[in-house]
Amino acid sequence: MRIDCLTAVECEAMRRAGRVAAETLAWVGAQLRVGMTTKEIDRLVRLDTERRGARPSQLGYHGFPASVCTSRNQVVCHGIPSEDDVLGWGDIVNVDVTSCLGGYHGDTSRTFCLGEPAPEVKQLVVVAEHCLNAGISVVRAGARLGDIGAAIEEVARAAGLSVVREYGGHGIGRSMHAPPHVAHHGQRGTGRRLKAGMALTIEPMLNLGSPDVRLLADGWTVVTADGRPSAQFEHTVLVTATGAEVLTRLEPELTPRPERLPHEGSLDAAAATIRA
Ligand code: MF3
Ligand code: CO
Ligand code: CO
Repeated sequence: MRIDCLTAVECEAMRRAGRVAAETLAWVGAQLRVGMTTKEIDRLVRLDTERRGARPSQLGYHGFPASVCTSRNQVVCHGIPSEDDVLGWGDIVNVDVTSCLGGYHGDTSRTFCLGEPAPEVKQLVVVAEHCLNAGISVVRAGARLGDIGAAIEEVARAAGLSVVREYGGHGIGRSMHAPPHVAHHGQRGTGRRLKAGMALTIEPMLNLGSPDVRLLADGWTVVTADGRPSAQFEHTVLVTATGAEVLTRLEPELTPRPERLPHEGSLDAAAATIRA
């Protein structure tokens, strides 16, 4: 299967699409509260995506009925937002945003904690993000797909967690899903070689219990076979000669934060205030 390499102009379009997806995920993520329904998350994602001039890629994709996937606790991925699905204290929920801007897609997700989940569940969430970062860290032109899976599996195994095998990352560009399949398990030095200009997602799903999953009768919702929690993080990355450009990671200065307080003139001034 042919894997597209993007031109410089296409890479620019992917940067813009990736930034929109990341900004929507950050904006929606900051509003999650205990008692909110996942249907409300869907409304927020649609509103924010559209006001940024983009379209929710997932809406209507093979008939998917919502603008975002919301996967709570034992839901591994592709959870359908619902008025009956309420965020409870101690829950975890993955919000997976895919935005299409100017014909190109950006795809990113995070798992959020509501209140204070059990320690092992918080640990699952932390390790899932480490697994994503481990996968990203081996990306560069000349590396192989198996290097990504191996790096993820190593972090998961060290933490005693299991990696879902039935679903993986994917190529992305003018289509939300394109070749290749990016497995989150594998062997170093095997699989297709990465080239500069390829755009991929890495999106490991980590389980507290068994790696096995099953599909619910709605045809979308994937849950753990044993009913224990699952966590996922996803970024869209561009392969470069020396590494990966993460298209869905906001620059620190773009991260939503409170307004600067009047006395916070500079770091030096802040230090002086603390000393005084
Ligand atoms: N955003 C999902 C992914 O990471 C795509 C889900 S397809 C849908 O690949 F139809 F379920 F939305
Ligand atoms: Co994806
Ligand atoms: Co996604």
